[in-house]
Amino acid sequence: MTSPSTTLSLVDTDPAELAVDAVVIGLHSQNTDAETTERIVNLADTLLLASGAESIAAAFDGRLTETLALLGATGSPGEVIKLATLGTITAPLVVAVGLGPEPTGAAPAPETLRRAAASAVRALAGAERVALTLPVPDDEDAGAVLRATAEGALLGAYRFAGYKTRPQPTRRPPVAAVALHVPDASDARAQAEVARATVVARAVARARDWVNTAPNELRPPSFAESVAAAAREAGLAVEILDEQALAAGGYGGILAVGQGSGAPPRLVRLSYTPDTAGGDAASKRVALVGKGITFDTGGVSIKPAQGMWEMKSDMAGAAAVAATLLAVAELKPAVAVTGYLPMAENMPSGRSYRPGDVVTMYNGKRVEVLNTDAEGRMIVADAMARACEDGCDYLIETSTLTGGQVVALGKRVAGVMGTTELCQRVQAAGDAAGEPTWPMPLPDDVRKGMDSEVADICQVNASMDRAGHMLQGGVFLREFVAEDVPWAHIDIAGPSYHSGEPTGYWTKGGTGVPVRTLLELVDDIAANG
Ligand code: BES
Ligand code: MN
Ligand code: ZN
Repeated sequence: MTSPSTTLSLVDTDPAELAVDAVVIGLHSQNTDAETTERIVNLADTLLLASGAESIAAAFDGRLTETLALLGATGSPGEVIKLATLGTITAPLVVAVGLGPEPTGAAPAPETLRRAAASAVRALAGAERVALTLPVPDDEDAGAVLRATAEGALLGAYRFAGYKTRPQPTRRPPVAAVALHVPDASDARAQAEVARATVVARAVARARDWVNTAPNELRPPSFAESVAAAAREAGLAVEILDEQALAAGGYGGILAVGQGSGAPPRLVRLSYTPDTAGGDAASKRVALVGKGITFDTGGVSIKPAQGMWEMKSDMAGAAAVAATLLAVAELKPAVAVTGYLPMAENMPSGRSYRPGDVVTMYNGKRVEVLNTDAEGRMIVADAMARACEDGCDYLIETSTLTGGQVVALGKRVAGVMGTTELCQRVQAAGDAAGEPTWPMPLPDDVRKGMDSEVADICQVNASMDRAGHMLQGGVFLREFVAEDVPWAHIDIAGPSYHSGEPTGYWTKGGTGVPVRTLLELVDDIAANG
């Protein structure tokens, strides 16, 4: 396992005189309408240096934008242009990162800077020390902007160790040290943002590492051990239920899914208790549940071979919840947080559960199984019922639950279902974190379509029609939440895994979604109850 070894610090001295390998500046594309474009005589007029770049620009005697334009710079988001400084400033390289058009009267959106910082730091792999002089507004948005830049820089440096037997000469090591240029490096607020970003980025990297680990190396018992070891080290209380304990406890859903595998299922419970006695928020209890299918073959209702390898990421929800708890242990918010991680491997075998089975779940409800590939809701429902039994004021669950989420919302936007107010808070937290979500309904007709002839509910629509696939997941899970508990189900089937080339702070493989949303939400609940 790897965590980012990249360190982050603040500097406030002249960027032109910093002894680093590269200084990163922001570059805007100029808003030019068709008419003015025709009249552009100077290519440099299409570019605008972002605030923060002033002293570097001065060292270049006003010729920096012109040179960047000749190098092909356009200032579009994600663009990285490297320029040798040959003694003009102390650093041998100046790197211009595109920020898109300059927003009128404001600093760029935090998410723009998060992505830009990541692109620049990734492009500089192999360099030891890098300074970022990106815009920081001098108003109340400064904290959010600095946090985003810091997170982006660290997440862009993320790299999974992988399994190659020989080192790859073309894969340069991540940047070792990033310095963020700010007006005042001794400012306590700025220092707190950098400290938080470091904890958050480490948590995201943890979640990514677990997701990226090969599924033969991460089966329920070893996943449980890996999580438990990290959690104990972080000072969290840990409880692991093995297959005997699950049987004794009546966790029918987790056992049914896990019974087809030679590696037995687990339920891991991690808890953080704030030591700040008193206060309304401190008495709130947040339960987080994450789906931990270490590999999803579909079971007897087996999946097609093409792309099945990506189902090693079917434990991304559990990885995110575990990583969130690790960060919570360090950030110490004034709210109690408990994580529930049901873990199972969904395999076809002579012992597998089958379509037609009726399973008695942890809360006593009976479920008619129609498709063994809808396994996530079976294990997550038991964990949600357990969380409600333990008692909680908020229940947030996240799972790679349905392909329907990807069809409906794509690879970037997660679906959220549950009680209205909590869904809105999840959405706001996701927006602040740069992890967008969109609310989805729980319609009566979808529930009706899941009525069972023989049991209390079918696991999926009996006609197996794919209509409202994502919603069926939410409607099913609702049955396992105690009355009056505000709850939210975040379907992350798309956003939890990135199959394409690296972009922004997303590297190939696990993304760590929704760790940052969950941490933002925990902060919100700690502050506002
Ligand atoms: N793990 C999958 C959902 C998934 C699909 C995650 C694509 C990530 C990317 C889940 O267990 C599953 O198989 N869902 C089925 C449910 C169906 C059989 C009712 C699906 O969405 O097709
Ligand atoms: Mn499945
Ligand atoms: Zn699954």
